[in-house]
Formats: sequence, structure tokens, C-alpha cells
Amino acid sequence: MSKEWTCGQLRASDAGRKVTLKGWVNSRRDHGGVIFLDVRDRWGVTQTVFSPDHEDAFRVADTVRDEWVVAVRGTVRRRPAGTENPRMATGEIEVTASGIEVLAPSAVPPFEVSGGPEPEESVRLRYRYLDLRRRRMLHNIELRHRVVKYIRDYLSEREFLEVETPILVNSTPEGARDYLVPSRTSPGEFYALPQSPQQLKQLLMVAGIEKYFQIARCFRDEDLRADRQPEFTQLDLEMSFVSQEDVLELTEDLFTGLTEELTGKRVLAKPFPRITYEDSMNRYGNDKPDLRFGMEIADVSEVAATCGFKVFSDTIANGGTVRGLAAPGAASFTRRQIDELTSTAQEFGAKGLVWIAVESPQDSETGYRSPVARFFEREELDSIAHALGARQGDLMLLVADRKPVVLDVLGRLRNHLGALLELADPGVVAYAFIVQPPLFEWNEEEGRWDATHHPFTAPLPGEEELLRTDPGSVRAEAYDLVANGYELGSGSIRIHRREVQAEVFRLMNYSDEEIEQRFGHLLRAFQYGAPPHGGIAPGIDRLVMLLADEPNIREVIPFPKNQAGEDLMLGAPAPVDERQLRELHIQLLPAAKERTASARPQ
Ligand code: AMO
Ligand code: AMP
Repeated sequence: MSKEWTCGQLRASDAGRKVTLKGWVNSRRDHGGVIFLDVRDRWGVTQTVFSPDHEDAFRVADTVRDEWVVAVRGTVRRRPAGTENPRMATGEIEVTASGIEVLAPSAVPPFEVSGGPEPEESVRLRYRYLDLRRRRMLHNIELRHRVVKYIRDYLSEREFLEVETPILVNSTPEGARDYLVPSRTSPGEFYALPQSPQQLKQLLMVAGIEKYFQIARCFRDEDLRADRQPEFTQLDLEMSFVSQEDVLELTEDLFTGLTEELTGKRVLAKPFPRITYEDSMNRYGNDKPDLRFGMEIADVSEVAATCGFKVFSDTIANGGTVRGLAAPGAASFTRRQIDELTSTAQEFGAKGLVWIAVESPQDSETGYRSPVARFFEREELDSIAHALGARQGDLMLLVADRKPVVLDVLGRLRNHLGALLELADPGVVAYAFIVQPPLFEWNEEEGRWDATHHPFTAPLPGEEELLRTDPGSVRAEAYDLVANGYELGSGSIRIHRREVQAEVFRLMNYSDEEIEQRFGHLLRAFQYGAPPHGGIAPGIDRLVMLLADEPNIREVIPFPKNQAGEDLMLGAPAPVDERQLRELHIQLLPAAKERTASARPQ
């Protein structure tokens, strides 16, 4: 190694040792006659001390500034009693410097690398190489490395083969827009960047690889959110001759191991709960529930139908539903807090929010407090409380509307309250599998069925017949891995029979020509002995984000794009030369031409 000593290494037992430390100046303090330079590298920070005894070194140390790269020569000594720093791993010692070499000066950085206020994100992204010097970012990069290594080791030990699949491919449908790459040699034709290696991994199963994985880069041109990037990384895996349970058990074991071995977090339950999609929607209002807390949604339509509160009884009479949840301990909310909750529910799409505080349920007079209490019989309130599992001190919240609206509002309200009431233990990861989603959803605009997962997903065994009679009711042999309110991964058992695959494509309104053009390779491959197979693809970025307690996927991607899909450091995307365009047989439309003419560097 080129460095004998790192800045995170020296301890009291090294006292007397002569060392050279190389790194960046983390901070410089001048204590009248003594200069302290904290020197930082990937491994830590060590305090070095310059005194006028070594005049040349002292003079140089006087000129250096934060983020300069230096090599400091000196002798390790125990810090004088009372000056140790227990917050630093090297806090017992310092290096009394006898020499210093400036390896590279630094311009004044646009933000303080060590300490200081959190810089604005656009500045961080523009100067990402400085941002990555910050400890938090280094920690995330290290964690990401360890996660990927754990996965590689785990799967390699179980006879999986890591296979790279190409980046210049043709379109594979995962529900987003493709990134296209024009071909120079085939005028007018384009490659698509893979939205996932889905078809290739299935072709690898036909090829007899049996157990495949890849740390796969995927590209999707879609609206960006906190947990989405236009390019991201999946742990893509696929296995032949497996059942759904085989895939789930492998995933469960891998994710439990890596969570517990690489982080201080605890996995809430193993085996991970298997919750049907329908159950998840009904109990949590969405298909990626945060299971670190309860507060489940319950149906009170039966009571609502016959109660004296017209908003409720009318909703039921019109085919709607009334459901609610009990916010633990929230009966003590102030009027203002309740008003805020109501506005939040309205922002989520509710027409209104009924609240009932459970004061002292044993007392027949004052059991419940609510602006609408007088419209309900006492038994009705009791039975609502019973349905919601509400206890003394809880605040019951009820919404009346069409079922999808009610579930969506309550699902979001549940997450909102979970955060507000701090119900989730941040040291816990609550993994679960959401299983048996519908195979299709009806696309009203296009008048066709869309695959909810992707068109290669098999119908649930026994429901294949329904493809012909009632496609909307067919459930998929598919599963999502969810954790703490995030969808971490999706997978399914695949269709491996040509006829079933063709039938699904037809339901999706693909013409024969389109099927041939887009999926001919797959259907042809299925003629040559396709084994039954299935797999899953958890997102690495989302996983690391969760394990690192980061609120945003950009924090765990070394060089991410901003919300507009731009790389602010590289200045991508960018206009290209006329000549390059010509070679690619591309002509810009007038508006694009005008834009790029003004954007092109002079
Ligand atoms: P799916 O499209 O559900 O499935 O994607 C699987 C996982 O990939 C991650 N992911 C993303 N992460 C960051 N930014 C994005 N834009 C983004 N899009 C997806 C998520 C998601 O759960 N081929 C199938 C898998 C299979 O069937 O085996 C697929 O790609 O964590
Ligand atoms: P209103 O009759 O509109 O004045 O509403 C009376 C109470 O019922 C208010 O507290 C509203 O917030 C609530 N409310 C109105 N519509 C709904 C609804 N669809 N679901 C739940 N509560 C509602």
C-alpha cells in the first residue's frame, strides 16, 4: 500500500512512533504559537500539532487552509491529560509535526466539508466530489459496497451465476418510457436501454443457467420522486424449477442476513408476513404497508348504514363505504391539531373527516367526545370503537366515500399519523411480501388490459381459465417485497408456455405483428424447452436508502441526477455537434434546434 498509516488508525499504544499522515486538512486552528491541523482521509481524522520548534514546518502549516492535501511527518504522542477527545477514534493521541509537504492546495470550497450548515442540494450535486468527502456520504458509499458484496457472496455460495446482460437492447415493457440510443449503422433505428433485464434473464433460464443474478443497471424515463432515479440498480435474480415459496424463502433469508449483519437494525418478523394484495389494500390502504405499527383500517359500514348521521347513511345507500382507524393516544389532540388532520385528509382527497375521541368508554354519559356524537346511539359508538380496536385515549377517524377513495385517504392518513405520533421504531425493518395482486388492470383510455406487474407474469394456478372469461379477476403469481412503507422489489413466477404468453399479449391488444416484432425472440425461445421459472428484483438503491435511514434515494447514489433528470456536475444532458447528429441520421425539430443553439457553449 502506498500509505503506511491512515488517519483513523493511531492509538495510545502507538506513542513514540514516527509516522507520515497524508490526507486533507479537515480544520486548522491557531492557538497563538501552536497550530493544530486535523488531517482527514477515508479512515478517519488525526490531530497534528505544529510548534515554532520546527520552524520550517510551522511556517508552512501557517499557510495551509481547509481541504488542502498535505503530508505531515511527526511523532505520535499521548495527548496531555484533559485534552483527549473521546468522540474521535484517534482522540487519545496527536502527532507532533516535524515536517509538512503541501501535495495540493485547494480553492475555497463552496461549502464546509466538515461541519457547517447543510448545503443546498444543487450545490452539493454540482460539487459532488466535495459532497462525497462528507462523512455521511462516505458512510452511505461504504454501506452500499457492503450490501452488494454481501449479496454477491450469499448468492455465489448458493451456486448462482452472475451474468452481465447488454445495455444496448430493445424495448422491454416495465411501464415506463424507454431511453433510446440512435444507431449510426442502421439509419432510423434505435436501441433502447433496458428498463430491466427481464427478458434476458428469462432467456438465460431457457439457456439452462438455472440460477442467475446480476447487479443490474436499469433505465427508466419516468417522473422522478424521492425514491426514483432515471437510472438505478437492481439485484436482478431468476431461478428455474422453483415455486413462489422458493423465491420468497431465498429473498427472506438474504434480506434478514444482510440487514442484521450489516446494520444495527432488527428485522421485525421472520418468516416475513405474506399478505395478499387485497388484504393489504383493505387493512393498510395501499400495497406497501408500513408494518412497524398497527393502526389498521376497519370497515364500519354496517353501523354507518343505519346510524342517524346522514353523511354516513347516504354514502352507504349510494354504494359507498365508511371506514376508519384509531390513532393511539390522540384523543388529547387540540382542536387545532384535529383541524390540521382534517385538512390533511382533504388534501388526500377526503370530503371530510369525522373524529370521535374515546374518553372514558366505561362511563355511559361521557364515553365519547365528537361534534357528531349526538347522531349516534351509544351502542353504535361502542361497536365502531370495537371494530377499530380503539382504547381509552385514542382518536377514531372515519371517512365516507367510494371504497378506493376511502382506502387511499385512510392509507395515507395512517402513514401521516405514524410519522406524527412517532409510532415506528427506527431501529426496526418490517419486511413483508404482498402476494396475489391482480394480473391486469383495465386501461380505460386505451381500451385494453395492462399487466399490473409485467406481461411475463403467470396467472395464479387454477385461474388461467379466467383469462378467457373474466381477465379482471385473474390474480397473478406475483409478489412484492415491501419494508417500512417502501416497495423494495417485485417478482413473479413467469409464464413459460407459449400459448399462455400469446394469450396475455392478445389481451393487452398487441397485434400479431407487434408481438412478433417485440417479443418474437421470447416466444421462439419458449418453443425449445423453457423450464418453469421465476425470480425477483429488489432495488439496491431503495434498500440502501432504507438501511442508511436516508429520506432520499439520491443520498445513496454517488452521482445521481436531480429532480429534472440532469447531472449538474457533468452538465448532462447536453447538446451535441451537428456532425454527430448527421452521423446518427437525426434532424432536430425547430423548437429543439432553437433551444440547443442557445444552450450550446460558445
Ligand atoms: P419492477 O419494475 O417492480 O420489477 O422493479 C423492481 C424494483 O426496482 C426498483 N425500482 C426503482 N428504483 C429506483 N428508481 C426507479 N425509477 C425504480 N424503478 C424500479 C424498485 C422496484 O421494486 N423485471 C421486474 C422484476 C421481476 O419481475 O423479476 C422489475 O423490474 O425497488
Ligand atoms: P357536513 O355535513 O358536510 O357539515 O359535515 C359534518 C361533519 O362530517 C364534518 O365534520 C365533516 O368533516 C364530516 N364529513 C363530511 N363528509 C364526510 C365524509 N365523506 N367522510 C367523513 N366525514 C365527512
